[in-house]
Amino acid sequence: MIYSDFNLKPLNTFGLETKAKTLISIDNESDLIEINDTSLSERNLILGGGSNTVFVNDYFDGTILLIRNKGINLVHEDEETVILDAFSGEVWNDVVSFCAEKGWWGIENLAAVHGNVGAVAVQNIGAYGAELKECFVECLTYSPLKKEWKTYLNKDLDFGYRYSIFKNQKELEIIWKVRLRLSKKMKINDSYAAIRDKIIEENLIISSPLDMVNLVTKVRNSKLPDPRVLGNCGSFFKNPIVSESHFELLKKEYPSIPSYAAKDGVKLAAGWLIEQCGYKGKRIGNVGMHEKQALIMVNFGNAKGEEILNLAFEIEKSVKNIFNVELEKEVHIIL
Ligand code: EPU
Repeated sequence: MIYSDFNLKPLNTFGLETKAKTLISIDNESDLIEINDTSLSERNLILGGGSNTVFVNDYFDGTILLIRNKGINLVHEDEETVILDAFSGEVWNDVVSFCAEKGWWGIENLAAVHGNVGAVAVQNIGAYGAELKECFVECLTYSPLKKEWKTYLNKDLDFGYRYSIFKNQKELEIIWKVRLRLSKKMKINDSYAAIRDKIIEENLIISSPLDMVNLVTKVRNSKLPDPRVLGNCGSFFKNPIVSESHFELLKKEYPSIPSYAAKDGVKLAAGWLIEQCGYKGKRIGNVGMHEKQALIMVNFGNAKGEEILNLAFEIEKSVKNIFNVELEKEVHIIL
């Protein structure tokens, strides 16, 4: 279906008031035919669950491709392993619950991450010690301009922290479905301190992926605002990575600075840096940084694009001045 002047407010978890000149709803393969020279514009944007997309203008003068194809198909099963395809329009957390209920291990630590399946591969979602890339096998994509289907294997995507090659993709390419490999064997991942501490503190026994889903969901919900209540896009910034020498200097001055080993240096907690700069729970107009997690920008109701960009800029400047660290936005800003 093709719509004009479509209201995007229910389609972005930040809850921003905005409209799109054209929106094409892609519910199944036969809808792909509607993506053509007439329906496409100079600007085209693929939208899934809208949980990482921040529309800072009240009008998107282009075409939104809303991906809503559903389905979870079992591709292979043996005594130890399960391989399944999840279509991009599925809500990610529904896939997590489906797999956990079947007793399949692998994505339970990624419970309650907002968004749809298509987006999880774009930015290699990660939470509580797990990353999508660990169980991602491949994905199938469709290029509406070339009218071509293509399969990308895990190694083709150059997965990194909140990164895959789709992040920098200039050409329009729809992720159609994602193939995952899960395990029937118990594989508890309690590497993240907040999870491990909770297990010890509450004397929990994790004996199924569903137990882990319940625990992760509880820990997550205790810190992160529900977008249905308070509009947000999860982490607004990425956790920055600094050099070892820079970290040593910071550690001397701030001995309690949280840090994690990273591939190219030391990863810092952006939420901690922002809190030190005094922005935790701080509200400026219709926007602010969440009172329980300073990394989450929230919409108190009628946030305007300008307010979002100003607050982000102020925080970036402050973190740079105090810690000499550059923050990079994790959310996708649509100007
Ligand atoms: N911290 C503070 N103050 C804050 C927030 C955090 O001091 O206001 C400290 C915490 O005490 C902790 C450290 O910073 O020592 C890390 O905090 P947390 O465990 O909450 O995780 P995070 O690094 O802030 C990342 C992801 C989240 C993911 C969590 C859990 C990024 C950008 N964010 O946040 O992902 O849920 O780890 O694994 O990597 C998202 O992408 O939208 C998201 C929520």
